[in-house]
This record gives sequence, C-alpha cells and structure tokens, in this order.
Amino acid sequence: MCGIVGILGTKPVAVDLVDALRRLEYRGYDSAGVATVENGHLERRRAEGKLRNLSERLTREPLNGLAGIGHTRWATHGAPSERNAHPHMSENVSVVHNGIIENFRELKDELMRAGAVFASDTDTEVIAHLISYEMRKGADPVAATKNALARLRGAFALAIIFAGHDNLMIGAREGSPLAVGHGDGQMYLGSDAIALAPFTDQITYLDEGDWAILTREGVEIRDRQGRRVDRPKVTSQASGFLVDKGNHRHFMLKEIHEQPEVISHTLSNYMDMASGRVRFPDLGIDLAKVSRVTISACGTAYYAGLVAKYWLERYARIPVEIDVASELRYREAPLPENGLAVFVSQSGETADTLATLRYCKAAGQTIASVVNVRSSTIARESHVVLPTLAGPEIGVASTKAFTCQLAALACLALAMARARGQLSDERERELVKALLEVPRHMSTLLRDERRYDELAHWMSKSRDVLYLGRGLSYPLALEGALKLKEISYIHAEGYAAGEMKHGPIALIDENVPVVVVAPEDDLFEKTVSNMQEVAARGGRIVLVSNADPESIGCPVAAHVRMPQVHPFVSPIVYALPMQLIAYHTAVLMGTDVDQPRNLAKSVTVE
Ligand code: M6R
Repeated sequence: MCGIVGILGTKPVAVDLVDALRRLEYRGYDSAGVATVENGHLERRRAEGKLRNLSERLTREPLNGLAGIGHTRWATHGAPSERNAHPHMSENVSVVHNGIIENFRELKDELMRAGAVFASDTDTEVIAHLISYEMRKGADPVAATKNALARLRGAFALAIIFAGHDNLMIGAREGSPLAVGHGDGQMYLGSDAIALAPFTDQITYLDEGDWAILTREGVEIRDRQGRRVDRPKVTSQASGFLVDKGNHRHFMLKEIHEQPEVISHTLSNYMDMASGRVRFPDLGIDLAKVSRVTISACGTAYYAGLVAKYWLERYARIPVEIDVASELRYREAPLPENGLAVFVSQSGETADTLATLRYCKAAGQTIASVVNVRSSTIARESHVVLPTLAGPEIGVASTKAFTCQLAALACLALAMARARGQLSDERERELVKALLEVPRHMSTLLRDERRYDELAHWMSKSRDVLYLGRGLSYPLALEGALKLKEISYIHAEGYAAGEMKHGPIALIDENVPVVVVAPEDDLFEKTVSNMQEVAARGGRIVLVSNADPESIGCPVAAHVRMPQVHPFVSPIVYALPMQLIAYHTAVLMGTDVDQPRNLAKSVTVE
C-alpha cells in the first residue's frame, strides 16, 4: 500500500510534499517521510505515526531542496518505526516505494556481500543500494535505474532522486499505480491524481512496466524493454480541495449521514425517474445471453457483491459465482463463454481485485466494475464502468460506498432480470419504487441516533459479538461484524443464522451479544427459530428488525426498531444500524475511528 509523491519544483518542495501526502494518507498512516536534494546532497526527515508528526519535525528541522520525494507508509516489511519509514537511502540514491519486492532477500545478501550497509528492515532499501551498486560500476543514474529495475520481482511504484542531480527524478510502475503530473516548469509523480490535484490537472498514467525520466522540462517514458513510448496526457477531474468533516466528529459519521443523498445520486444515474424503470448503460454484451456472472471483490465490497448474488439469482434467474479476490485468482477457476465478470471496489485500486480482473479478462470475460473512483486502475481496465456516486470516502471503514455499491448492483440485477424476460413492467416499477424510497427511510433512521447509546455501552464491554442473518441479511451480518471489529477492535463474527447450530452456538453465553438482522421477510420465521436457540442458551439478543420483539417469543435484550421496507431493499436500509452500532461502540471505546490501527483505506498489496 503506501502513498508516494515526487516534485521537481522551483521553490522548496517539502511543504507541498506533505500537502500531497495528506491526500494519500488513506493509503497508510504508520509513518511518513520526505527527502530532498539540498546543495547536491540528499537530506531526509522521517517520523513514526501520523503525518502531523512529520509536519512538526519539518517545522523544527526544515528542508530547503527544490527536488524531493515523500511517502506515507502502511508497513509490510519491518515494524512501523522511524528506522523503517521511507524514503530509504544509499550514499547517492533516495527512493520511496509502494508495493513489495519479492526477491529482496537474495538481492540484500548479494549487496551486503558487495559491501552495502543496510539501515532498515524493509524490502525497499535494496532498491537504493542496487541503483548505487550499478552507479559504482560506472552507469549514470538513468542506466543504473534501468539495470536495477530489470532485477526487481514483485509489485512497485517508485519515485527516485539522486545526489548531485537537482533536475532529475525517475518513476517506475509495475503492479502499483503511478501518475505523472505536468506543471509549468515543474513536474510531479504521485500514487494518484488526487495527490497532485493542487498542483496540476494534467496527468499521464503509466502503464505496467513503464518507467519515466522526469526533468523540469518534461518527461520521457520508456517501457519494460527500454523503448520510448507515448502515453496520453489527460485532464484529471480530481478536486484539489481536501474534504473536511463539516460539523461531524468523524469522517465516518459524516459519511454515514451523507447516505440518503449519495444513494439518490447513484440511483438517479441508473434510472428513468419518469417511467419508473431502470436505464442501464450498454455493457457491450447481450444481457440475455450472459451464461454466468462472476463477482469478485474484497472486504466490504465483497459483501456488496454477495448481496448482488442473491439479487441476481432470485430476480434475474442467472447463476452467479462469487469469491473474495485473493482466492478467485489463484483457484484457476474455469470461466464460461459469454461470461460477465463484475468487480466491486470503492478505491478501484485494490491489488487483489485488480489481479482477479486481469485473470478474468484474459479468460475472455466481459469486465464490468462498480467503482467509486472513476480514474482508478480498475475502472480504466474494465470494459464498462458502473460508477457509484458516493463522493470521496475518507473514513477507513466503508459506509456510503457500500450502500452506493448496493444501489448500483440492485439496478444491474433489475436490468439483467428485464433483459432475460424475468421481470414484468409492473414488477419492475414496484422494485424501482422500493429503491427510490431508500433515501427517505435512511433519513428517518438518522434522525434518532440516541437509541444506540445504551447498546454501545453494553457492546463496548463485550469481548465477543456474534452477528446472524439469513438470505439477503446474511451478507449484512458479515458486514456488521467486519464494521465492529475494524473500528472497535472487539472480536466479532458474522454467520448465516442457520449455520449457528453447526459450531458457533458453542460460544453463546450471557456475556455474548448476538445481533440478529431480521427484517420480516419470507425467512423471518426461520430466523426466529434460531433466536430461540440463542435465548435457550442464555444468549442476549440484539434484534434489528421491523418486527415487534414480543412476537418472537423469547427475551430480547435490545431492539433496534426498523421501518417496514420492501424485502428487495432491506440490505441497503439495514446497513445503517450495522454502521451506527459499530461507530457508537468505537467512539465510547476511544479508538481512532477514521484511521483504525493496522488498516489503510486503499489496499494495493496482495
Ligand atoms: O477499495 P475497495 O472497495 O476495493 O476496498 C476493499 C476493502 O479493503 C474494504 O472494503 C475494507 O474491507 C473496508 N475497510 C471495510 O470497511
């Protein structure tokens, strides 16, 4: 993961580097650092922890170089300490890296035998020493970098500067994204266009295997074989403004509250409001002839895909295969002719999802992606993009992106159902109407957050929490558990309610809250039976339902009363209590809600 940036400027660049890193903090926040070329020497400042620690350090010990690189880290190799913070340096090379160098051990052994002294536990440091080693053999910085790149295995986006070269910066991309920014007499490198938005909107995205030689006068791009190549310059739509929290205490809470509006925007992108019917973009494939849908994603986006599986199977009557991206790509799963592969990702940069997309593309699938970032790699490599209009999501815990993914996927299910002759006009209007009512239901629910206070007090004292749900509520149980564990650090597990008796029931006692996601749908009676099994073992039920607690015939410790909603849209509406239970519990526990430990917003390593 990690975010990288580089600037060849006309005034000292350290402050701008930190500004760009602030926009990349979603990629990691274990430590940060910058290095510049100062009077021909390389100078660096690094700090453990959040970016503000680096800013404070730079205030005490400024850097004045006009050429520099910066990094915000999500630790892979080596603890999140200052010693392992980037930039890493040899005597004449400084490098920042996003990715993993898989053959770093053999390179490190070889370089140590040649006299290199390593100062960190990272894989990245070998890159600096390898380039220096090539330079000692007589190569200039460009040739030395070319030789070094040829020896690296793994994934990387790099920005490199050199002692004695104030007008040179080299970038390279293999598996991790990297953008070149074109300024007026200034040039930039960044993990994405958002990082560079305050400086330029003129962006060139490097392709896999590309490396770029930047001077203040421009850029020369070469491919893996060293041939000069042209890559298009595009105008980025990324905004230069840093999103703020408004009146909210955390980004996560702000984003939860934005849901009625952004779900409306997303729905209106896929619907003809006048006729009450879905209006879907041309996927370049006859939906009636699709033989199977394959869905893949990670984390919360995977749970959105799981809901879509239920929708597509039930409403469009089409077989759906789904797996987390880190598994699907390595299973060597056979993929059918006329298959549609759907990838779901907020960031559009998740490494596992991207690799699985490429696997499916190579196997001849039509690739559709549901992404929130239109300029992302996943979007650019898809045949068709189904955007979610959630706006920037800053909190690491995905909230509004999830419900917007559900909104877009619900429309996909209806479009497929119609194309396959499974949906009458009347039924389509009924389901579209249900979708259009979602924002109103969410607004109503958001008016009363006090009801989570008592529940959060109780949850915050628990060591373990179980979440149960059936059918469309099963993915919500998984999502509720993920949300709670990622921001409160309480151990939580989600299960299909019917699976509880096959193992998890052993965990139940009077100290374990069991959150049951139970809209009154056609599976409600079955879920009630599972609640009785919980109650019989002394478990304390938190009922999230429109049903009256009295109607279930067993004690309920807490009830989150939900509105009566159409079963088709219940996963979208029921996402809200999952988010708010986790949020209020985490706030009471005093955790870092927006940037929980060990996590990052964009996961660009395997
Ligand atoms: O950017 P993506 O949607 O591809 O990210 C996938 C997961 O990393 C992400 O949903 C993660 O699980 C969230 N932090 C959960 O809240």
